[in-house]
Amino acid sequence: MENQTKRRFSVREVREDFPALRQLVYNKNLIYFDNGATSQKPQRVIDAIDRFYTKENANIHRGVHYLSQKATDHYEEARTFIANYLNAKHTHEIIFTKGTTDSINLVAFSFGELLSAGDEILISAMEHHSNIVPWQLLCERKKCVLKVVPINSKGELIMEEFDRLLSEKTKLVAITHISNTLGTINPVREIINKAHSKGARVLLDGAQSIQHLKIDVQELGCDFYAFSGHKVFGPTGIGVLYGKEAILEKMPPYQGGGDMIAKVTFEKTTYNELPLKFEAGTPHIAGGICLAEAFRYLDQFNIQDIENYEAELVNYAQDLLSTFEDIEPVGTARQKASVVSFNIEGIHPFDLGTLLDKQGIAVRTGHHCTQPLMDFFKIPGTVRASFAFYNTKEEIDYFIEAVQKSVQLLK
Ligand code: ALA
Repeated sequence: MENQTKRRFSVREVREDFPALRQLVYNKNLIYFDNGATSQKPQRVIDAIDRFYTKENANIHRGVHYLSQKATDHYEEARTFIANYLNAKHTHEIIFTKGTTDSINLVAFSFGELLSAGDEILISAMEHHSNIVPWQLLCERKKCVLKVVPINSKGELIMEEFDRLLSEKTKLVAITHISNTLGTINPVREIINKAHSKGARVLLDGAQSIQHLKIDVQELGCDFYAFSGHKVFGPTGIGVLYGKEAILEKMPPYQGGGDMIAKVTFEKTTYNELPLKFEAGTPHIAGGICLAEAFRYLDQFNIQDIENYEAELVNYAQDLLSTFEDIEPVGTARQKASVVSFNIEGIHPFDLGTLLDKQGIAVRTGHHCTQPLMDFFKIPGTVRASFAFYNTKEEIDYFIEAVQKSVQLLK
C-alpha cells in the first residue's frame, strides 16, 4: 500500500464521493460539522452495503455452500485489509466489535479478569464516558483503583502528574488519542514509553484519531487500540479492537456463544483461537466488509495530506472565532486536531446549536459524553464543530456568518 501511487487530495473531488453532502436542509445547503459524532459515507461504502445484501448475504464460518464461503472470504479479507492498514503484526490481532465502547468494555472485562485488588488503572480528565465507566465497573468488580491524570486550562494533560501517578501498581493506562470535546492530541508515544517502563499496558481510545492521523500500531507500540467504524466513513455497529497477540492470548473470552468455541461439552468447553475467541455469535458481517471498503477509500490518499488540510481548517475556524466578542474557546491545546469547541458568554450552547441547525449547519451541543470535563471547565456544555476532510473554508465562512447572526438574535 505504501508504495502505490496515491490519489491527489482535492476537497472538491472528495466531496463528489459523499452523496449525503449534496442535500438541502431547511432549503439550505447542508454544512456537516458533526463528524466527531459520526462521519458521512462515500458512495463506494454505500454500494458495498447494497452489494452485500443483494448478492452475498449468508452467515460466515458455518456453511459449506457457495454464498457462505464467499461471505466468509470477504469478511476475513476485510480483517486482513484492516490489519495491514493499521500495520498490525498479525491479522488475528484485529477483533471485530460493535464500536469503540464495545472494544473498551471487552478489555475492561477480559483484561480486567487478570487484575487483582489494589491494581491501578490510569485514565485522564478528558476521557469520554466510554473510557471512564467501564473502568469504574471493573474497579467495583475487582477492587482495583482508578486514578485520573488532571489537565491544565488549555485542555492538555499535565505530564508531571502523569509521572507522579504512574507506578508499579499501574496495570493499564487507558487514554484518548484525541479528545472528542477539545481536539487535544495527547502525547501518546511518551505515555506508552513511560507506561511500559513501569510494566503497565496501554489502551488508546482511537475513536477520534483513526480518521485523522496515520495509525501504525507497531510504531505507536500501544497494547490496545479501539475505534468505531462509523467515525471513519464506514457503517455503524461495527468497530475494532486491536490487541497485541501475547496479551490477547492471556485474556479470557468476553462473551460465550457460537463461533468462539473449539469444543463444547456439558462438562467443559474449550475456546477457539484468536480472533474468534472474542467474537461470539453471528457478527456484523456487512459491517466488517464495508468497514474495509471505507479503509480502501481512505487508503487512496496520503493521510499526511488529509492531516495537513484538516489542520488548516481548524486554524482557520479558530482564527475567525477568536475575533468574536465574548468568545470562550474550550480546548486550546498546542497539539489539536479536527475539533473547535466554544461558548459565547451569556448564550446557552443548545440555543446557539438550534439556530445554527435552522441555517443548515449540523454541530453538536452539550457535554459530548464528557461530563467530568465540563465540571472541570465549570460549563454545562459547548458548541462543537468537528471537521472531516470533505469540509471547506467556504463552509467555515458561512458558519461564522451564521454564528454572528445567531448571536445577534440571542443577545
Ligand atoms: N463520541 C461521539 C461524539 O463525540 C458520539 O460526538
